[in-house]
Amino acid sequence: MSAPLLQVTGLKVNYGHIEAVKGIDLELHEGQITTLVGANGAGKSTTLLALSGLVKKAAGRVMFDGKDLSKMAPHNIVSSGVVQVAEGRATLTTLTVQENLELGAYSRRDKGNRAAEMEYIYGLFPVLKDRADGLAGNLSGGEQQMLAIGRALMAKPRVLLLDEPSMGLAPIIVQDIFRTLRDINRAGLTIFLVEQNVRQALKIAGRAYVIETGKIVLSGTGQELLVNPKVQDAYLGS
Ligand SMILES: Nc1ncnc2c1ncn2[C@@H]1O[C@H](COP(=O)(O)OP(=O)(O)OP(=O)(O)O)[C@@H](O)[C@H]1O
Ligand SMILES: [Mg+2]
Repeated sequence: MSAPLLQVTGLKVNYGHIEAVKGIDLELHEGQITTLVGANGAGKSTTLLALSGLVKKAAGRVMFDGKDLSKMAPHNIVSSGVVQVAEGRATLTTLTVQENLELGAYSRRDKGNRAAEMEYIYGLFPVLKDRADGLAGNLSGGEQQMLAIGRALMAKPRVLLLDEPSMGLAPIIVQDIFRTLRDINRAGLTIFLVEQNVRQALKIAGRAYVIETGKIVLSGTGQELLVNPKVQDAYLGS
């Protein structure tokens, strides 16, 4: 197997006296979907925030394509190509769908072909094209999640980070979102997906990690973990 595109070693994060992440190692490989699954409070979001430089690391290193991201400011991490989909969808509700997408490209140095990129996003999410001139605040929860993903894609990431994109959405919309993630990945994008929806996440993941109380307790391919009895007992209700 080739060298990892992004490698986390010995990551620890504390909130005061709470040890949220207790020394984890993980790797993302280029062109793969990697997932980190676990229960409430296991440390999933904290791990993502540490990759994005949004919480202080007590220890550990994040290497991305030969660069050390560990001490970089969040905006420099974004411009280096590691882009997190905004949490809780956080679209700018008083701007239009199109304006939200344009803002996604704001951090980029190259300006690229904005119109063609916008068409790519609208191809992934046709419902956004229908609503291009409407306010983001009028979109449904699922549509806002799509817009948040579209906006992150406008930053031309090399690695896309997602924190529970399925949260709070109806099952049929969740299917849609996961199908689109698979399509984006097939087009070549490396994805790191944090999820409580363990079954769906493992189904689309090449590589998977299970986190419990701040530690990685299992890892393997998505398929291996789907059929792992411990995973089935603890997370798949079977
Ligand atoms: N800002 C904070 N201040 C103090 N403790 C926090 C803070 N954020 C998270 N924690 C604690 O850190 C631990 C890990 O939380 P984290 O949000 O990373 O878990 P998670 O796996 O994302 O959970 P969820 O599935 O609920 O989103 C939990 O014990 C949580 O209570
Ligand atoms: Mg979380």
